[in-house]
Amino acid sequence: MKQFVCVGLLVVGLWWLLPSPASSQNDQPAGSPRDNAAIDAVFTPPSPETIPAGLAGERIRLGYEIVVHTQQYAKRYVGNKLNCTNCHLDAGLNPNAASFVGLSVLYPEYRPRADRTMSLAERINECFERSMNGKALPPDSSKLQAVVAYIEWLSQNVPRGSQVAWRGIPRINPSRQPDPAQGKAVFAKKCSFCHGTDGQGTMAAPPVWGPNSYTIAAGMARVSVAASFIKANMPRGWGWSVSDDEAFDVAAYIDSQPRPDFPGKAHDWPKGGKPPDAPY
Ligand code: HEC
Ligand code: HEC
Repeated sequence: MKQFVCVGLLVVGLWWLLPSPASSQNDQPAGSPRDNAAIDAVFTPPSPETIPAGLAGERIRLGYEIVVHTQQYAKRYVGNKLNCTNCHLDAGLNPNAASFVGLSVLYPEYRPRADRTMSLAERINECFERSMNGKALPPDSSKLQAVVAYIEWLSQNVPRGSQVAWRGIPRINPSRQPDPAQGKAVFAKKCSFCHGTDGQGTMAAPPVWGPNSYTIAAGMARVSVAASFIKANMPRGWGWSVSDDEAFDVAAYIDSQPRPDFPGKAHDWPKGGKPPDAPY
């Protein structure tokens, strides 16, 4: 997290060093590419502890609860044993784990997998269907609106036009073909303690394969995505401790295990562009 703050501060610092940013921006039309280059936000999300009390913060608070206790607050729409926060770590506040901070300035956005422009609510529903093996919430659902409100609230310090530099998961690249057999050994040594020798989860950690895990059409089912997530965040509390090869091997092992299918997969990437590690 510190790393991001420093980069952000540096960007802001340089911006102030420019001869006269205010006057040179005046003759730029609003929303020009120039603005995008100039505005880069610092990762300074508000803490969920400061969600306004009472009625004012009610929707935001519900959104937070859904993200952290999805099993409890959105049970009807979930088909596995995961909560959003199991991947979007720290309730979406972790800049190394697909953070929610800043997302509301990026959507609506064109998504090649669906070949259409999606609202933030629709993108949330994709994770309900694919990562949670569940069902999409109706567009007018107060729960769906609550998650959107929570993400908007988290994004309050991110100006429109920001690139949201911390978006997603910091990516690593494989140095060789990932090896699931070596990954099995990594799992036994560094992961099974919390996730269970059978990968089905324990009191300490959620399942990583099997009927209660994410579907084959989830982002995490792609080896490059899982490897990057594992590298930065696993074992939980010891991020950046496994080597890149270990992260890729164990990701390949996990993602070669059985998990729920996704019937809608046939409609994905209708115009092409499917990533090479999509497992279907
Ligand atoms: C100290 C316990 C612990 C260890 C060891 C550990 N994890 Fe996790 N893992 C967790 C917890 C807890 C979560 C959920 C995080 C949360 O909700 O904050 C998690 C989440 C995950 C997730 C995303 C959620 C899911 O269940 O699919 C994956 C994938 C994952 N871990 C893989 C691994 C891999 C691979 C290793 C070994 C390199 C590993 N973990 C080691 C505790 C652990
Ligand atoms: C098994 C892990 C997992 C779970 C559980 C999960 N997600 Fe995701 N989610 C991901 C991954 C991976 C991405 C893609 C990140 C990337 O592109 O780098 C993602 C992307 C997203 C995005 C878009 C992020 C962006 O940068 O545009 C939103 C919004 C989102 N998820 C919301 C949710 C919500 C809400 C839940 C709970 C209902 C949830 N997710 C559950 C793994 C998960």
